[in-house]
Amino acid sequence: MNIAELDQALASHELFSNIENMHATFQWVRRNDPLHWTDAPDHPPFWAVTKHADVIEVGKHPDVFVAEPKTFLLNDEESRIRAEETAATGGKMVRTMIHMDGTDHRKYRGLTQAWFMPASIKRLDAVIRERASDLVTQMLERDGRCDFYNDIAVWYPLRIIMGLLNVPESDHAYLLHLTQQFLAPKDETLRREGSEGQGKGAVAKEYFAYFGKLLADRRSRPQTEDLDSSIAHAQVDGQPLGLMEAVSYYVILATAGHDTTSSSMGSGLYYLLRNPAEQERLRAGPELMPTAVEEMFRFASPVKHFVRTATQDFELRGKTIRAGQELALMYHSANFDEEVFEDPLRFKLDRSPNRQIAFGYGVHACLGQNLARASMRAFFSELLARTEWLELDGEPNFISTNQVGGLKTLPVRYASARMAA
Ligand code: HEM
Repeated sequence: MNIAELDQALASHELFSNIENMHATFQWVRRNDPLHWTDAPDHPPFWAVTKHADVIEVGKHPDVFVAEPKTFLLNDEESRIRAEETAATGGKMVRTMIHMDGTDHRKYRGLTQAWFMPASIKRLDAVIRERASDLVTQMLERDGRCDFYNDIAVWYPLRIIMGLLNVPESDHAYLLHLTQQFLAPKDETLRREGSEGQGKGAVAKEYFAYFGKLLADRRSRPQTEDLDSSIAHAQVDGQPLGLMEAVSYYVILATAGHDTTSSSMGSGLYYLLRNPAEQERLRAGPELMPTAVEEMFRFASPVKHFVRTATQDFELRGKTIRAGQELALMYHSANFDEEVFEDPLRFKLDRSPNRQIAFGYGVHACLGQNLARASMRAFFSELLARTEWLELDGEPNFISTNQVGGLKTLPVRYASARMAA
């Protein structure tokens, strides 16, 4: 691969749909030019940050590397459409804590931080376990075969987060569909029909309409301790949240809160199935679950990148990042960095320490990581306790996205512990 091809690959979504190729590409970049100035045709140039240490270094300087004005890479066409949409709506269409910096970010994140701390998540244990049990039951009712990703994985975290927001179950499928379109705008089967870039704007409008109604409803009722009600009645600087900020709050929780965990479940199971000895080890030793789940997050790294923009010149890995330049934090690459992970391509249930950064690093580090951990541990405990064996039933497909994603299909076969007995 020459440099022009490399730049094109790093700016593309397709890189992530072929796992072997993706690993080979990032391995080459980490070894030869780990902070790579990527200048692809029809794409604004950016620094590809591929090393674990550099992603952390950037995360340590939130005043220098800011989330405004862009969180994901956009090509020239998408940038043009974004500018038009912004002009047409008189500002941004969505403004979540992920888009904010400094004190604004602190204030908005602070509104629900306590909700997602380990002690609060502990209180959800019974609900999480019940959802896990329901989904495993559904799986076992299926005659020993399913597409694990679409039949099971997409529903489990969705049920949990939508339950926290008191969204009726009849609307879950619709919101799932919107999230998939939003986070894989270029994937051939998932993206919104019509012009690719416009698809994303149209999806955002639908989210806005849905959660705008939910907000009005919650505001018309007295406040409760539920998450949806807390957001509707929250105040910043003594004022209720603006319409855009309140709706965006629901949107970020509703989107960030399930696709990521589903992808981790899919990848987690996929790598367990590709490593039957590890599957057996985990079935026989459930005390390995916490480290196993960290390894699943590392292999999944469902958030492929986030963008930061430099506010001033900064020296990183012997190069000068100039004020105004963009950086793409390549989380997937960082999680396979040979300098941090011994034998990084080996799926090791008891990897310790495991300094995976699938949840990011710094002030924007994932708010929902305790929920994601609890959900994964509950699900895999239930699944392994209630099955005798599980194996691949064909080759899986991966989503073509450089934003958030992983598996698109995962055909599996299995026997329930009861059936085999
Ligand atoms: C395996 C599951 C998950 C992964 C891998 C993941 C990953 C991430 C990453 C990498 C970020 C950092 C974004 C940045 O650097 O700008 C992030 C932020 C965030 N995540 Fe997650 N996430 C997961 C699950 C969840 C869940 C379950 C929730 C909520 C219920 C959630 C809510 C959020 C929110 C609100 C932010 C924004 C935090 C901020 O900007 O301060 N995530 N997540």
